[in-house]
Amino acid sequence: MTAEPLEIHLEEQDVGRNLRQEVRAGLTAEEKWLSPKWFYDARGSQLFEEITRLAEYYQTGAERAVLLDRAAEIATVSGAKTLIELGSGSSEKTRLLLDAFTRHGDLGTFVPLDVSVSALRESTARIAVDYPGLRVRGIVGDFTRHLDRLPAGGRRLVVFLGGTIGNLLPAERAEFLAAMRAALEPGDWLLVGTDLVKDPAIIVPAYDDAAGVTAEFNRNVLRVINRELDADFDPAAFDHVALWNPEREWIEMRLRARHPMRVQVLDTEVTFAAGEELRTEVSAKFRPEGIAAELREAGFVTSEFWTDPAGLFGVTLARAE
Ligand code: SAH
Ligand code: TRP
Repeated sequence: MTAEPLEIHLEEQDVGRNLRQEVRAGLTAEEKWLSPKWFYDARGSQLFEEITRLAEYYQTGAERAVLLDRAAEIATVSGAKTLIELGSGSSEKTRLLLDAFTRHGDLGTFVPLDVSVSALRESTARIAVDYPGLRVRGIVGDFTRHLDRLPAGGRRLVVFLGGTIGNLLPAERAEFLAAMRAALEPGDWLLVGTDLVKDPAIIVPAYDDAAGVTAEFNRNVLRVINRELDADFDPAAFDHVALWNPEREWIEMRLRARHPMRVQVLDTEVTFAAGEELRTEVSAKFRPEGIAAELREAGFVTSEFWTDPAGLFGVTLARAE
């Protein structure tokens, strides 16, 4: 079967408005910041796929190990008819679930949702070919804004992999989980992957690899802003910084200006002092009791919590109450 045409819940105009708003807010703030969803144009999505193949980036392998082990159980326990994936990217690991549903369940529809049109186009085309019995409905959308538009009806399982939930700030995360719960019915399921707190000597290199792929990925957000907002950032004039914050238990990605700069963005001139940093991303690391508490607060009950054998990464299966 071929995938259905992508459902666009994110029109170009809307993206433009959202980007302009956020960039203006972030670049005029006392401590400059940008939202991580702007990393993922075609090149950004490709660079992220490269990150997942780096030796230092343990998360993909660890999460894959859990899914490989537990996919059959997830398919049987959830009994889902519709599998919805948020921030689906290439949906590579999700294939383990689709395989299990093919053997153990009666899944009818797969609904990957992502802001990246290019990633969705590729993944939906491939999955439709490889899973001929499955209806594949890709949605171009923003999981911080469009959860009320998920397909309704039938038992649903929403999966949110790759530790992407950790890229939301704590308040955004609470809001996200509440909106997620509001979009579901009692008895629907949520599967969420979270990177776990561990020795920063393991975490930091995952965000500052020797080959410099993550540095390129980080700088790519400036290229996106140059193109979309006709700005004149010089990406090469920024150093990639990955910093472990022990109080918050998150990694902060920043871009540090190598020398004083003036950048024209929208109708404003943004100035950077030498050494000034722009925060581009946080990636929170979790503790098992913290995840369960946040889920409970939002109206979910944790049914299972699994980790890979080395205990690097956690996967939680929770039910909407
Ligand atoms: N799930 C994949 C990809 C993780 S990377 C994996 O585990 O490997 C994060 C993905 O989320 C990217 O594909 C990116 O385009 C998407 N994304 C980031 N912010 C988003 C948002 N606000 N709404 C929808 N998708 C988003
Ligand atoms: N969800 C991924 C994570 O937090 C995204 C990611 C990996 C990322 N490496 C990055 C985001 C580098 C920005 C920069 O691990």
